[in-house]
Amino acid sequence: MARLQDALIIRGNTIKNRIVMEPMFTFTYLGDILGDSRTQEKSFYGKQHIDHYEERAKGGAGLIIIQATQCAGSASGTEQWTEYDKSILKTIAQKCHNYGAAVMMQLACGDTDINALTADEIHAMQREMITAAVTAYQLGFDGAEFHLAHGFTLCKFIDAKFNKRTDAFGGTAENRVRVLTGILPEIRANTGEKFMLGVRMGEFLPESRDGFEAAGIFEQAGIDLLNISFGMKMPVDPVPDGFICSPMAYSGCRIKQAVDSIPVIACGALRTEEEVRFLIGHDYADLAGIGTAFLADPAFAKAIMNNQPVNKCHGCERCQWFTDHAKCPARKGKS
Ligand SMILES: Cc1cc2nc3c(=O)[nH]c(=O)nc-3n(C[C@H](O)[C@H](O)[C@H](O)COP(=O)(O)O)c2cc1C
Repeated sequence: MARLQDALIIRGNTIKNRIVMEPMFTFTYLGDILGDSRTQEKSFYGKQHIDHYEERAKGGAGLIIIQATQCAGSASGTEQWTEYDKSILKTIAQKCHNYGAAVMMQLACGDTDINALTADEIHAMQREMITAAVTAYQLGFDGAEFHLAHGFTLCKFIDAKFNKRTDAFGGTAENRVRVLTGILPEIRANTGEKFMLGVRMGEFLPESRDGFEAAGIFEQAGIDLLNISFGMKMPVDPVPDGFICSPMAYSGCRIKQAVDSIPVIACGALRTEEEVRFLIGHDYADLAGIGTAFLADPAFAKAIMNNQPVNKCHGCERCQWFTDHAKCPARKGKS
């Protein structure tokens, strides 16, 4: 039986405990005002992001996966990859490391109709995925997680119902995951031995067995970590009697049972010490993915490991951090 404070070694990296901060866009997608303040030109990342992630590293997270950064622009140094943005990202990695947290970047590819893409367009996208991952490594991140969940571009590739392609990127399960598996050797060749590569995905693609199949192929292809969320739709299946966490968390547990030995993060409305201890203590998942509970309380990890009260997330239907973190009702009066 694992305990929350037990370390987990992934590809030679020590994750000091079982608590992961899940990727979450914050601060209305905006960073710092650059240059002449009258032009209001803003970076994507800013000093507030440094403080935000440092606070959660200080608050005890074993692994922090920072919010989705779009791969587009990685090769040209534009969009979210300007020198300024990269300097902020590098500092985030350093600050998280200062508190012993491992830190990965989540990498995404927007929201495109994949059935309308030409093969050349897919290859160009793959080049940006490679450059983004290699840049994350150069900036000091311990790994990169590709965002193949939540109905976005990369999720559409792996979903058998959505993907209607008849070329090497559609059809069989092997073809549907190729958008990522096809570039893993080049990423590995240009990053360090310990650089972790993760996948965020859902179980239902659209059937549960499709999720198990995709997870198995990722494991065989050398992916180091699976972060199970949802694909095109949220899992709503009932959970077995006695399982006290959400259907989404249960979905993570099912994927863990379906793979051999690759570590799995389960997540979804984990807000109490009881839920997190239940998940890890019963070996339902290797790691507990914490989203909004970490927004409501930056010290969530430390608090639950030390049996202390947490500043509890209210579970609003639409989390206000997407647009304005100051509106979070759980954080009233707090910075
Ligand atoms: C404000 C906000 C931003 C999010 N941004 C991302 C993101 O960038 N990438 C991603 O994979 N999931 C994102 N998510 C989903 C979370 O990672 C997480 O899966 C979800 O909130 C469920 O976990 P929770 O109930 O513990 O919050 C976001 C969620 C919230 C609330």
